[in-house]
Amino acid sequence: MRAGGSGPVREAARILDGRRNAVALTGAGISVESGIPSFRGTQGMWTKYDPMEYATLHAFMRSPRKVWEMLSEMISVCGGAAPNAAHKGLAALEEMGVVRAVITQNVDGLHQAAGSRRVIEYHGNLDELICVHCWKRYPTRDRWTPGGVPLCDCGEVLKPNVVLFGESIPWLPQEQAEEEARACGVLLVIGTSAQVSPACDIPRIAKESGAAVIEINPEETSLSGNVTDIHLRGSASDAIRLLLKELSPGDEAPPSAPSGH
Ligand code: APR
Repeated sequence: MRAGGSGPVREAARILDGRRNAVALTGAGISVESGIPSFRGTQGMWTKYDPMEYATLHAFMRSPRKVWEMLSEMISVCGGAAPNAAHKGLAALEEMGVVRAVITQNVDGLHQAAGSRRVIEYHGNLDELICVHCWKRYPTRDRWTPGGVPLCDCGEVLKPNVVLFGESIPWLPQEQAEEEARACGVLLVIGTSAQVSPACDIPRIAKESGAAVIEINPEETSLSGNVTDIHLRGSASDAIRLLLKELSPGDEAPPSAPSGH
């Protein structure tokens, strides 16, 4: 696709500007450019850690210290990561009144670090630890040290307050996310393989409520070609930079453009 305001980018920007009540649904792909590996794909976390052995509630209850081998790596990598141009661009779109909320599957806190104000953390976040025996909670920084296994005052191993496979989504973020999906005029689906339920149902809820679905991903996903109306094929940072350029003309020249249909 030509650099700059080409067909799909210009069309996406026209829709975003016309409706000005977009919601973003983000996945691990938006944080890849911050150095945080995605889960699937050739360099994904799930090629190194079998999710059935490391990322289910059952695995945690059975072998919490083994699961902390993966959790420690996640906390260390996320702790050292900074928001990238895509996170910052989404925050700018919220400031401009184009985006009203971000629903994120990510637990890295980078949307808030980038300045996004309304962030719905669908899978929780790594900042808090919870005891699955006495329900006491602690800030992660107070109880976790690199490579360590954090313990509750009751002596049990603590768990990050993130949703593992086999856990249900906390009711509040689930309600908030569905409400935003039903109310939005545009759903920006950024950096998710759309393979994990119930997050992957959000695009369909938005579509059935009349929203236009704009997907930003270098790859095709199960959404492309059916739920997706416009697929901006490329990295999140490139696509969002191009959208920002279209929505606020007069900015600096854009980088290479994502391809799209
Ligand atoms: N920009 C945009 N998208 C990208 C980029 C990038 N720079 N790099 C990779 N992607 C895309 C990939 O093509 C893929 O479609 O990001 C997606 C990442 O997919 P997953 O690794 O499956 O991550 P995600 O969709 O967030 O997973 C959902 O699954 O394992 C659970 O709880 C975990 O929240 C996670 C959920």
